[in-house]
Amino acid sequence: MPTVPLSVSASNASASKVKADILVVAKAHNGAVLAELDKSVVKELTGALDAIDFAGKAGSAVRVAAPKGVSAKSVAVIGVGEVEKLEDDLEKLRQHVGSFTRGLDAEVSVAFAIPTPTAEVAAAITLGAVLGAYRYNDYVSEKKKTASEITVITAKKFKDAVEEARIIASGVTGARDLVNQPPLDLYPETFANRVSELSKGRKVKATVYDAKYLEENGYGGLHGVGRGSARGPRLVKLEYSPKKAEKHLALVGKGITFDSGGLSLKPAQSMEEMKSDMGGAAAAAHTLFAVADLGLNIKVTAWLCLAENMPDGNAQRPSDVVTILGGKTVEITNTDAEGRLVLADGLVAAQKDNPDVVIDIATLTGAQIVALGKRTTGVMGTEVTRANVCVAADESGEQVWPMPFPEEIREQFRSATADLKNSGTREGGMLAAGIFLKEFIEEGTEWAHIDIAGPSFTTSPWGYTPEGGTGVPVRTLIEFARSMSK
Ligand code: BES
Ligand code: MN
Ligand code: ZN
Repeated sequence: MPTVPLSVSASNASASKVKADILVVAKAHNGAVLAELDKSVVKELTGALDAIDFAGKAGSAVRVAAPKGVSAKSVAVIGVGEVEKLEDDLEKLRQHVGSFTRGLDAEVSVAFAIPTPTAEVAAAITLGAVLGAYRYNDYVSEKKKTASEITVITAKKFKDAVEEARIIASGVTGARDLVNQPPLDLYPETFANRVSELSKGRKVKATVYDAKYLEENGYGGLHGVGRGSARGPRLVKLEYSPKKAEKHLALVGKGITFDSGGLSLKPAQSMEEMKSDMGGAAAAAHTLFAVADLGLNIKVTAWLCLAENMPDGNAQRPSDVVTILGGKTVEITNTDAEGRLVLADGLVAAQKDNPDVVIDIATLTGAQIVALGKRTTGVMGTEVTRANVCVAADESGEQVWPMPFPEEIREQFRSATADLKNSGTREGGMLAAGIFLKEFIEEGTEWAHIDIAGPSFTTSPWGYTPEGGTGVPVRTLIEFARSMSK
């Protein structure tokens, strides 16, 4: 099952003496070779690059035989564009490094000898390298090859930064693994089993509420969506609660293991990527695991709202009315607006513990993609928490944008038979979904809603992101938890 390099570590050995298949250095566009190597070696390398007209354009890379005095078998030079200092744009550096490891097609040991003036640079190289080296190999007969070993050459004092980056990368790749698994095998029960397994050996408690429990205890959203599938819904509560924690962050993840639309069936093309409709739950779970692995001093709970949205004979119908946990009733006008129903139950459940902040993460609307595209996540919610999520995203290198809740949109959800209906008009669809969720947020709860419909999955690989699940927004959430823990 390991889909990432087996070993990721820091080393303060001299770069010229490291025995790796590939020693990686950088080159600024039409500029200097950036390498932790002796001047004479850099000079020889520069000559070799000039001879083949390698300019160091951003995203380019070339491999040459190792110059004399270098123990590695070969040297790869990656173009990092027109940089003054590597630490000026850490996200670009992650992308360039990740582009390189994403392109590897052999099982090789790779050592990075790019200068690391700061801990952040060492961490960025580590994160980019591991994320780009990710391969999803569980269902192919011939494994896609990748780096078997990644070493980041850096000062001893930056060893911890490399280890932290490794843990953050594992959070991202763990979420990718879940998103990439076919829905034949990943459904609510197996998802719950999987995260329960992953909780063992960590200071994480997992509680699984099954379909019968949900039906009998008022979780009308999860029950309503889940009833159209032969494989019933689950709600999973994960808890990481270090004794000294002063703050409590609750994450609520949309975990639709497959979204066919239900009776409001999607057209075939729109269904193609719908195994990824559990990306929010995957991100919530793996954020919590990473926070536990980092040993952050903050209580985190993750509520995974797991259901399969299918059009079985027992499926909920348009015009049914369901009762969300806590008593609000919702008229179903479109069974394809299912995410908000399962999240409503999860949000109400999460608030019972009185957390300081609630964040829900969901592949909620096609409108998110129309508004912001495939790479930029939409963030809504209460003012302070929305802003804090955006700060955490900037800090971690993920792309987000804050979105408003215009008052007039609430009218879309007026229902003649219930407290509200679950879908309105097309306009402002991303905002509308957020406004629907807001109905289940208590006065005074600090809350953010993160719509990752586009960014959670990609069919066109780029930078450190291969095809498939991206693991967005795990890094933002870890950073949010980290800054809250201070
Ligand atoms: N899972 C989809 C949203 C989605 C679309 C995610 C494309 C990723 C890519 C969600 O459940 C959905 O179907 N939303 C509807 C809502 C509408 C019926 C109000 C949509 O966006 O069309
Ligand atoms: Mn849907
Ligand atoms: Zn959905």
